[in-house]
Amino acid sequence: MRLLVVSNRLPIVTVEEEGRLTFQESAGGLVSGISAYLDSLRGSAFAKPEYRWIGWPGITIEDPAQQALTAEGLSALNAHPVFLSERSMDQFYHGFCNKTIWPLFHYFSSYAVYEENLYAHYQCVNRIFCEAVTRIMQPDDLIWIHDYHLMLLPKLLREARPSAQIGFFLHIPFPDFEMFRLLPMAWRSEILQGILGADLVGFHTYDYAQYFLRCVLRILGHEHRMGRILLPNHLVKVDTFPMGIDFRKFSEAAADLQVRGTEDGAWEAIKGFKVVLSVDRLDYSKGILNRLQGYELFLESEPQWHGKVVLVLVVVPSRVGVDRYQAIKKEIDELVGKINGKFSTVAWTPVQYQYRYLPFHPLVSLYAASHVALITPLRDGMNLVAKEYLASRTDKTGVLVLSETTGASKELTEAVTINPNNTREIADALKTALEMPEGEQIRRNEAMQDRLRCYDVVRWAEDFLTQVPVVKAEQARLHARLLGRAARQQILDRFSRAEHRTIFLDYDGTLVAFANDPLAARPTEELLAVLRDLSRDPGNDVVLISGRDKDTMRRWFGDLDVALVAEHGAWIRPRNGSWQLAKPLNDSWKPAARPILQTYADRLPGAFIEEKQYSIVWHYRRADPELACARVKEMTDDLMNFTANMDVQILPGNKVVEVRCGGINKGAAAMAFIPKGRSDFILAVGDDLTDEDLFQALPATACSIRVGIENSHAQFNLRNHVEVLELLKSIILDHVPAAGEEGT
Ligand code: UDP
Ligand code: G6P
Repeated sequence: MRLLVVSNRLPIVTVEEEGRLTFQESAGGLVSGISAYLDSLRGSAFAKPEYRWIGWPGITIEDPAQQALTAEGLSALNAHPVFLSERSMDQFYHGFCNKTIWPLFHYFSSYAVYEENLYAHYQCVNRIFCEAVTRIMQPDDLIWIHDYHLMLLPKLLREARPSAQIGFFLHIPFPDFEMFRLLPMAWRSEILQGILGADLVGFHTYDYAQYFLRCVLRILGHEHRMGRILLPNHLVKVDTFPMGIDFRKFSEAAADLQVRGTEDGAWEAIKGFKVVLSVDRLDYSKGILNRLQGYELFLESEPQWHGKVVLVLVVVPSRVGVDRYQAIKKEIDELVGKINGKFSTVAWTPVQYQYRYLPFHPLVSLYAASHVALITPLRDGMNLVAKEYLASRTDKTGVLVLSETTGASKELTEAVTINPNNTREIADALKTALEMPEGEQIRRNEAMQDRLRCYDVVRWAEDFLTQVPVVKAEQARLHARLLGRAARQQILDRFSRAEHRTIFLDYDGTLVAFANDPLAARPTEELLAVLRDLSRDPGNDVVLISGRDKDTMRRWFGDLDVALVAEHGAWIRPRNGSWQLAKPLNDSWKPAARPILQTYADRLPGAFIEEKQYSIVWHYRRADPELACARVKEMTDDLMNFTANMDVQILPGNKVVEVRCGGINKGAAAMAFIPKGRSDFILAVGDDLTDEDLFQALPATACSIRVGIENSHAQFNLRNHVEVLELLKSIILDHVPAAGEEGT
């Protein structure tokens, strides 16, 4: 098995310098984390250390010869480039990724643009990635897709390779529903469906995972059980995996520095000062301006610190093609100039500003030299810099000041936390940090270091990657119940050999899809023809066994030569017979229960009640799914208390709650159609809890099928009503004589 890592950015950027292509390290948390994990793979317990990294090489190369050269150079580094045109990259990367998704997912909704053209390029580049991956993937490969650039890719790959092992991890926050819904309807559904193409979906924090699950429920209507979403064809697991760092690498490098000192004297200028560190990519989400304002306020209010403290502000160039990033650069430059202009002396410059990328060793020596790390993002999916700073504090001193709006703050609870929108909080936190007794610094850092050491980047990746086969095994258990070719053939054979057959068919969800309005789910001509053909053979007893009322059943199926069972078995109409009550029933509970159901329907827009003779159904398919969930619980509770002394049953169904007379169920009703010794083949197909009574009541020789991938008392599953119709058609084709040939 190989691991195929797929991300927009490769760990190496191809750069053109004086007409020559050279490779440089990429910036950002995604690359840092995955690279650290892949570096560690050699000693890892996870499978074989074979991997490929598929992604954009960071430059547009149109010339095929140059492309080949780049691909060759990158292949030595296990990297596989996906080449994109200048225009694609601009509209996709600078466009939809960084002008729509990035701002929206970081709660900068006013910065987000919604342009069809940009989304079209997003779709197109995701398809290009899909082609690139399918071209090199092998059947056993585990595909690990990363981040917001490629949210459509899991589904595209699933369609291309249905049995592939696919994981998806989002490195940025997943926003709450109100923010996510700002995306146009078609895009937001497609993005959620795209992500759900994966087997396993990972987020940094529990909140992001919950927000995602909530969006899936509200936008796509899929509920989850303990993070598991059962789609018609596929089980997906959603879970939290907080990304760690290579703790040892940072702490060892820092320890090494203590012994050897910095070779280049890079941080000579800050010696003797209390150092406050700030390192980020240049991004408005990082709160760099808020940080500077907080520092300025601190200097204003604490003059005793003048000449004693410096803020080392490292800003890494990032996404220079996006105008918002250029604008923020200008503002940072101006504010640094203002603070330095206001407070500097001949011997002291309060802000040491560097606009550049720091490679590993200078970065670690900066971490090691800094007394305080001031990390104030307005939003950040995780923030690895905070973790790396702590790992580099080998003597356990140093204070981390951290925004509560970073993913990292969920784990680094001993940090001095601040709300980055409040300049005063930042200034006060700085004072607290600079004046914190060493004993307390050590106490706080020990706890955080222990956590980071234990759940490092290798644990993070292995936790994720070992979960994918677990989900696959769970899917396999569910899919093993799917009616396969051999079992299907057995059904056909047994059907043909039998002299008499009884076929129980539920209606809604089994022969037709659900509709918002129950009366809209009427039978199609195709379905009526199948039922007609099936019942043409006098040896076939077709029984339509439904929860519908008997008038609807009569209107829709009254002309067919089939038996009908209405209201889950309360009413039975034998083939060529008339409606009879299955047993004497008492509906005196209805006047008492009806007002409760009606009150709850009134309190939930979109809910309504349907009254049948011996049952009342509370429908909520059209209602707000979350409010409905809460109301169903309350109402069921109320009904249970209220009907405790009555002979009624309260049944949860597919977006319905049904209250019906006791003693009625499809299993009992079915018995009327299986007189002993008569039926030598029984087939039963149904899709919900009410059909389970039927499956359980049938003799062991019967063949039972539940529609939907669910655990069931039935022997097999089919995916949906379309597959049921296909099965019935193949029975007809295999066995039932054509019209006019009866009895031959
Ligand atoms: N980084 C670096 N050199 C720099 C600045 C940052 O190597 O000059 C690395 C840093 O070590 C960290 C990553 O870039 O691993 C930044 O990740 P983080 O999660 O903090 O932020 P992101 O850039 O992903 O938003
Ligand atoms: C964040 C994103 C990554 C991205 C990185 C650098 O960490 O989650 O996907 O690679 O920023 O941004 P860039 O646009 O340079 O790739």
